Amino acid sequence: MHQPIGVFDSGYGGLTILREIVRKLPEYDYMYLGDNARTPYGTRSFETVYQYTLECVRHLFARGCRLVVLACNTASAKALRNIQQLDLPLMTEMGPDGPDRRVLGVIRPTTEVIGNYSQSGHVGILATRGTVTSESYVVEIEKFFPGLNVFQEACPMWVPLVENGEFASPGADYFVKQHINRLIDKSPIIDTLLLACTHYPLLIDKIRQAAPVGVTIVSQGEIIADSLTDYLQRHPILEEQCSKHGQRTFLTTDSTVDFDRQAAIFYGESIRSVQLTL
Ligand code: DGL
Repeated sequence: MHQPIGVFDSGYGGLTILREIVRKLPEYDYMYLGDNARTPYGTRSFETVYQYTLECVRHLFARGCRLVVLACNTASAKALRNIQQLDLPLMTEMGPDGPDRRVLGVIRPTTEVIGNYSQSGHVGILATRGTVTSESYVVEIEKFFPGLNVFQEACPMWVPLVENGEFASPGADYFVKQHINRLIDKSPIIDTLLLACTHYPLLIDKIRQAAPVGVTIVSQGEIIADSLTDYLQRHPILEEQCSKHGQRTFLTTDSTVDFDRQAAIFYGESIRSVQLTL
């Protein structure tokens, strides 16, 4: 039976997470869904992000996934809790084991470890406006690292730069510097910058150049891959249900030609996607 692990993102960004998950756990089947037709999510309302994310999660479940990772910070911030608490318990249309399906996000695993990177106790979060205004990082970090000083900066231009293939262009320098400077102005002793948006690893060279020397830049891919490994070990019944043929399926709600071209950059190897209509 084909019961892949679902990986969802508003667009291409989640491929930076999937790449690390596959590196760590290559034996599983994966089904990636990029909602490219409706990206970006970062500027949309809570209700819209929740509805879009729920629709995509339902689609992945209908295609056999028992476990879906929301590899999108904005969806994790705005939709995860509602889906876990309100929707999963009622998913009986998927059969009697519908409510046993699971959805995980990327914020909690990141906040469990982020404080370990900092010596100064001042951490900067770079994210979409939606993630920043949700305050999810601030609230979750306080649970695991009480007293850690968290400074946030919304970078609304960064996702469009990456989505439009401008992440290496000289024009991107201006917007990267602008937001790094604003964040460092909030606290000059920030020594750790978290890329709390799955698109931002594509800008990492420019972020490194713009950040003060010695600042640690943290991407989420490896953190999420480690956390998923741990989760599967702690949930042997669910782990058993995940099929293991090393198959990867890529779904997009928009053009497959565009997806395949861009996805190769985010994922690190060429892929062939399938278009789906929700
Ligand atoms: N991938 C999303 C995230 O990690 C951001 C992209 C978007 O705005 O849709 O927050």
